Amino acid sequence: PDIIFDYENAKGFFGPEELVQMEEKVKQKHKMLLDRSGSGSEFLGWIDIPERYDREEFEKIKSAAQKIRKDSDVLVVIGIGGSYLGARAAIEFLQGRYPGYPEVYFAGNNLSSTQILEIKQRLEGRDFSLNVISKSGTTTEPAIAFRFFKRMIQEKYGKAEASGRIYVTTDKNKGALKELAGKEGYTTFVVPDDIGGRYSVLTAVGLLPIAAAGADVDELMAGAALGRNKFMEAGFESNDALQYAAVRNILLEKGKNIEILAGYEPCLHYVAEWWKQLFGESEGKDGKGIFPAAVDLTSDLHSMGQYIQDGQRCIFETVLDLSNTGEEILVGEEEDDLDGLNYLAEKTVDFVNRSAMKGAIKAHVDGGVPNLKVTLAARNERTLGELFYFFESACGVSGYVLGVNPFDQPGVEFYKKNMFTLLGKPEIRQI
Ligand code: PA5
Repeated sequence: PDIIFDYENAKGFFGPEELVQMEEKVKQKHKMLLDRSGSGSEFLGWIDIPERYDREEFEKIKSAAQKIRKDSDVLVVIGIGGSYLGARAAIEFLQGRYPGYPEVYFAGNNLSSTQILEIKQRLEGRDFSLNVISKSGTTTEPAIAFRFFKRMIQEKYGKAEASGRIYVTTDKNKGALKELAGKEGYTTFVVPDDIGGRYSVLTAVGLLPIAAAGADVDELMAGAALGRNKFMEAGFESNDALQYAAVRNILLEKGKNIEILAGYEPCLHYVAEWWKQLFGESEGKDGKGIFPAAVDLTSDLHSMGQYIQDGQRCIFETVLDLSNTGEEILVGEEEDDLDGLNYLAEKTVDFVNRSAMKGAIKAHVDGGVPNLKVTLAARNERTLGELFYFFESACGVSGYVLGVNPFDQPGVEFYKKNMFTLLGKPEIRQI
């Protein structure tokens, strides 16, 4: 299997009867998800997307990616939140493997003028295309970045050629971006109505940037389809996603209200960022939810490690284990052994990393931090597709167990209201 969930190192923190009770609840909520009888059921399009995706749109995505590959050194991807993190997670997880494909820069995910200028400078003298992604078509951060880079691309290539280099991913029918795309003749891709931002990585939102970066999106979808089979069809005993949902809710009941996702490979950093949005936005509402945090190890063992080992005992840790990278870098022997590392001369860096992981897990468990582990078979598209689906399905079920609607995000509107008042935004024009 590409994904294995293991909670052996959490079993000391709860009794078997608690799991039996939670199992019942989880099975019920899983059924609710499949029946589409829970709250937010109008946003369950992600469940079947690995099998029922729009084949025509998929081919269009692949041809656009091919064109971008031919005519661009760089693809600037403009989007925020659910219209950003999935693509970035996949590209950072995989891209080390695709030399010769366009670089991808991410813009419009903040309001930093220095970042806009930095990207502008990095684009000087290079051929580029833009993919602006916004389901609503009105989000401020990407809209501002798009204005800037649209001007830049038009100045560089002229309006007509620029239009052929701008790809818009948005709602099928409505929104400012849809209207603009129609008027300017940009190629458009659809964010399906029944899929929310944080569940959209396997739609054009994620797929176009991922394909343009050189990844095999067929494999990604195949991995997700395997996930659909395993995590939607299988019963509790053999369903890792349901078990993960169960165990994290038991731990929450024990007062463990912070979950730290820990990766031992830098390519997992944005996978954790994507995961943080998925769980944070899905579960953090109505005064409830596990706070999702993340650490990059072993780096953060030298900073956050202190807190994990020894701070408030309100956390549990979920390790993303990608320790079999297949890289054979030996530590190597030195004659004088001044750094004292000769005892590792014949060992690989992977071996040392794995030993650090095993050592940290044991130390954290001994220190009162339950440990869950998700093992990834390989750094490839198939594993990643399955991993996306694993977390998505676990999150849906887990949110229902918690008693919230895992598919809305009313809380994200509050800062916008204040910001718009401060900015003096006029009444929104209805399109
Ligand atoms: O999950 C969400 O709904 C948000 O994170 C959105 O994805 C984010 O605000 C971007 O929205 P939009 O795609 O409409 O620009």
